[in-house]
Amino acid sequence: MILYQVKDYKELSRKAANIISAQVIMKPHAVLGLATGSTPIGAYEQLVEWYKKGDLDFSKVTSVNLDEYKGLSGDSDQSYRYFMNTNLFDHVNIDKSRTFVPDGLEEDSEAACAKYDAVIQSVGGIDLQLLGIGGNGHIGFNEPGEAFIPMTHCVALTKSTIEANARFFASMDEVPKYAYTMGIKNIMSANKVLLLASGEGKAQALYDSFYGPVIPEVPASVLQLHNDVVVVADDAALRVCKEKGAL
Ligand code: F6R
Repeated sequence: MILYQVKDYKELSRKAANIISAQVIMKPHAVLGLATGSTPIGAYEQLVEWYKKGDLDFSKVTSVNLDEYKGLSGDSDQSYRYFMNTNLFDHVNIDKSRTFVPDGLEEDSEAACAKYDAVIQSVGGIDLQLLGIGGNGHIGFNEPGEAFIPMTHCVALTKSTIEANARFFASMDEVPKYAYTMGIKNIMSANKVLLLASGEGKAQALYDSFYGPVIPEVPASVLQLHNDVVVVADDAALRVCKEKGAL
């Protein structure tokens, strides 16, 4: 694992954008695995800025997002499709027909998941998978559980994740209770993984994930078994790692 220790969110965003840019510059046809949530927003802003300056070209890039709420259409402003459009895709020259997000409107969970696994396979797998991390160690919507679930699946979101996501909705009741997410094998099959962690709320999860045992109760801990992981974490997120003498 390569760990970049940065001061704050601004530095984290710039470093993450640098790594994503490097991938796109080195391989214009790259398949990017993308994430939503608060953490990557700054990196996406930075990528847009560099694109506008003429330093980046997304015209040949394909993207596959980690997850989507079940029951939300791409037009709904809480959907992850909408998030990706407004935070990145609408502002760069990516071909939207090559940007993939699980189909939240597909009610048949098995069909939705099988379709998404087929998409990932058809694009030839993921070159760089961007990840945030939940305060409970989740990646994508792979929540702590009894086993690592390999492929795209439908999950019932945990209370803590619903509460964490409530900030994006008018009320807690409106937060969807299910989501489609890539599974652990989908994520682990990416050639390279870039995990971003910012803020105190991630400090324990970050320590448990990279310095604790590899267990499904801490989904991100499986990344210890991946041979090309880059972590960018700011001082606040690294607090527990430092206190425990891991760094
Ligand atoms: C987002 C995703 C989630 C988030 C995680 C952290 O597509 O799959 O695993 O990365 O919940 O969210 P933030 O960045 O909002 O703290």
